Amino acid sequence: MFGPQTHCVVVVGAQWGDEGKGKVVDALAERADLVVRYQGGANAGHTVDTAGGEFVLHQIPAGILHPGTRCVIGNGVVLDPETLFHEIDALTGRGVRVEGRLVVSDRAHLVLPYHKLLDTESARSRQIGTTSRGIGPAYEDKIGRRGVRVGDLRHDEIVAKLVRAGCERANAMLALSGSAKRCIAADIERGLAQIAPRILPLVGDAGKLVASVLAGGGNVLLEGAQGALLDVDHGTYPFVTSSSTTAGGAATGSGIGPTAIDAVLGVVKAYTTRVGNGPLPTEASPAEAERLRSLGGEFGATTGRPRRCGWFDAVVVRYAARVNGLSGLAVTKLDVLDSLETIPVCTHYRLDGERLDDLPDNVVSLECVQPVYELLPGWRRSTGEARRLEELPDEARRYLERLQESAGVPIRFVGVGTRREQLIAVV
Ligand code: GDP
Ligand code: IMO
Ligand code: MG
Repeated sequence: MFGPQTHCVVVVGAQWGDEGKGKVVDALAERADLVVRYQGGANAGHTVDTAGGEFVLHQIPAGILHPGTRCVIGNGVVLDPETLFHEIDALTGRGVRVEGRLVVSDRAHLVLPYHKLLDTESARSRQIGTTSRGIGPAYEDKIGRRGVRVGDLRHDEIVAKLVRAGCERANAMLALSGSAKRCIAADIERGLAQIAPRILPLVGDAGKLVASVLAGGGNVLLEGAQGALLDVDHGTYPFVTSSSTTAGGAATGSGIGPTAIDAVLGVVKAYTTRVGNGPLPTEASPAEAERLRSLGGEFGATTGRPRRCGWFDAVVVRYAARVNGLSGLAVTKLDVLDSLETIPVCTHYRLDGERLDDLPDNVVSLECVQPVYELLPGWRRSTGEARRLEELPDEARRYLERLQESAGVPIRFVGVGTRREQLIAVV
């Protein structure tokens, strides 16, 4: 992706998350000077399968596995400090040096114990099927202008004031919801006082760092979490996460202007999955979904929940292409379809007898659409060893061509397995 005219690339999920962003970021990070996570928090689980084993990254950018790449947790992230240090320690324990390579934005907001408690105790969160990582409540505090930012940890009295008010508010909400659980401000303050000396040395002006790397001609990768259909504005609201997952969020969440972005790569599976509740028009029958789930190992990297599975939905990907301004697609998990005789691809929907080529703007209609499928022949051969497009069976190439045509975006990468080398660059 990087080249003389392309120094700043966004990698976004273009379905409902878990598309394989971790693997694609890892591949591109080899040539990146800086990899920036720009939104979300520990709700993400980005998997990278290396010779040294499998790594699942929740808050630290997937670029950390390349020793020469520096990483940034941007201002758009809601950061759970406890999880961060578990992650840093686990990486260090496996021989990945993090020290001196990770910068945390002083403007990122903290996810505090009461955010997680509110998320786990809330009936609304259960209806949506959240990851219980406190993401929604933390973003509520951010937008409500009462959040605690990483940079606040420099000032004990500011933290104490914010945490006490936050706890009081959270306890009132817990009481209102009928929960017997409560949070204790003094415990949270003590926890933060312990964490501050570890986190503050990592803190910096992340936006300035990104801008300076770009100004020096360096390559920057902006790593999205979740996916377009989980975006708080453009997703299947209210069954979404609480951040701007799309490419516009990459600019605000990393502290650069949109004109600095040169390309946007959308990651999609060769089929579709979703964790949590909300519409999924191409959801397969229980037996077919079970087959895809077991072939693709479709269990959440963060919560272990079984993922709902269905067929490739070109309406969704066309929509994701529009709201992200996608310049290319990375299609992952083609190999998961290796054993199928025929493979349905949804090209458009029908609603009340009418043809729909675009995603409806509300979930009520989206719940009612009928996907219209084209049945494509399978290839019934293993693709895992292919390293060039020409090495794929004819039917697999035709399948990819159809995805590209129906989505209206050129395919730049194809994933044929979990391992690092199982990624074909389309030239
Ligand atoms: P992310 O959240 O978008 O980074 O995706 P996850 O890591 O949550 O889920 C993607 C899963 O698919 C992980 O288990 C990856 O190891 C796996 N994966 C990624 N690309 C491929 C591929 O091309 N083929 C197969 N079989 N698995 C893949
Ligand atoms: P990555 O980055 C898939 C889903 C949850 C739920 C909704 C809201 O690994 O692709 P939240 O905890 O964010 O308030 O939950 O969003 N969700 C994800 N689904 N992949 C993710 O991240 C997700 N992060 C959140 O399942 O439906
Ligand atoms: Mg994931």
